[in-house]
Amino acid sequence: MKVLVIGSGGREHSLCWAIAKSPKCDELFCAPGNAGIDRVAISIPIQVDDLDGIMDFVAANAIEFVVVGPEGPLVAGLVDRLDAAGVKAFGPSARAAEYEGSKGLTKDLCAKYLIPTAEYARFDEPDAAKEYIRVKGAPIVVKADGLAAGKGVILCRNENEAYAAIDHIMTESAFGDAGAEVVIEEMMVGEEASFFALVDGKTALPLVAAQDHKAVLDGDEGPNTGGMGAYSPAAIITEEMSARVMDEIINPTIKGAAADGRPYKGVLYAGLMVTKKGPHLIEYNVRFGDPECQAMMMRLKSDALEMLLACAEGRLDKIKLEWHKEAALTVVIAAEGYPGAYDKGSEIKGLDAAGKLKDVVVFHAGTVEDDGRILANGGRVLNVTALGKTVKAAQKRAYEAVDLIDWPEGFCRSDIGWRAV
Ligand code: AMP
Ligand code: GLY
Repeated sequence: MKVLVIGSGGREHSLCWAIAKSPKCDELFCAPGNAGIDRVAISIPIQVDDLDGIMDFVAANAIEFVVVGPEGPLVAGLVDRLDAAGVKAFGPSARAAEYEGSKGLTKDLCAKYLIPTAEYARFDEPDAAKEYIRVKGAPIVVKADGLAAGKGVILCRNENEAYAAIDHIMTESAFGDAGAEVVIEEMMVGEEASFFALVDGKTALPLVAAQDHKAVLDGDEGPNTGGMGAYSPAAIITEEMSARVMDEIINPTIKGAAADGRPYKGVLYAGLMVTKKGPHLIEYNVRFGDPECQAMMMRLKSDALEMLLACAEGRLDKIKLEWHKEAALTVVIAAEGYPGAYDKGSEIKGLDAAGKLKDVVVFHAGTVEDDGRILANGGRVLNVTALGKTVKAAQKRAYEAVDLIDWPEGFCRSDIGWRAV
């Protein structure tokens, strides 16, 4: 089978790495890919938002299956176009992808189908939003409704912060059109976890749980990033909790989404807050988490291509997934300055030595090859991923590999997995 993966991050490297191991995979392409993906797939210089370019490549190369990594092309309707062209695809339609594209839409779904989540209201007008804050008081959470690269959520300790958040998002348009509408929510207290389920329209199959670290600094301090590390399993998602999440959140969502004319296919990523009253939905993403996916792919024993195909073809009720019992942990190495401004082009050495350690894979994100040298080419650059008997053992091995990487212009957190060890 000829397969095309869309994306260029560590998530897509881990998907390509897992898919390439499948006996069913004859040829694997990735658009646009990166220097690490080049080792397991053929990178092609087509950007993820170039839907016409992707469709032309698919037709010209008789691609049979497309796996979409990031949310952008999903929200833009890539899977709809592939469907119309008769090409199998992993990922939701544009209408279903709107659950990530609009936080308010997801909150309305929760309200309609009694899915536990924080109390909320939606506003498209700043004065009404501020009046609601005045009535509700603080702490309170203010969110841009649309896609804001993980930065559109402001946790406000007092009312003045919340009014400022409204000004920032709505009046100053800090996130452009994504902030034309806001969702204001009750602040939930509890432990967070990321929960992933494959959904084929009818059947939902839970995957292993994972947890990421969004903050840039040790101790979960500093501004939020796309994710500085992750580990799997997540202790709080016991088998019992997983069953509750499926019953109370995932299954009602799938039924409700279908009833509302947005039948869901692909991976559904639920950001959860486990409060005293049980699991609550924070938000949905319509794709794998990055870097959670890297830890999950390390633990997957089953054929990844077969798993993704079964999801696309509506056969999830017929497959059973196998996972390594070991834990996996990923440390992200980012360019100095990230999540703010950073430089590109510095050379990274020691990758081969790190990758030779037992049960270690260094997944690339922002890298490019130049004349045999690997150069940094983005904010999050490497994902050093290791397996171990426990999260602690995986952590130890991952940091041994990190120590072998020679890249003075990069930095990483030194405490990934701290909650679990
Ligand atoms: P989101 O982008 O919606 O996942 O939000 C980013 C982060 O903000 C989450 O990972 C939570 O840590 C936090 N957060 C979002 N909504 C709430 C809420 N209602 N209560 C408490 N924390 C929240
Ligand atoms: N790791 C968080 C995300 O992928 O959204």
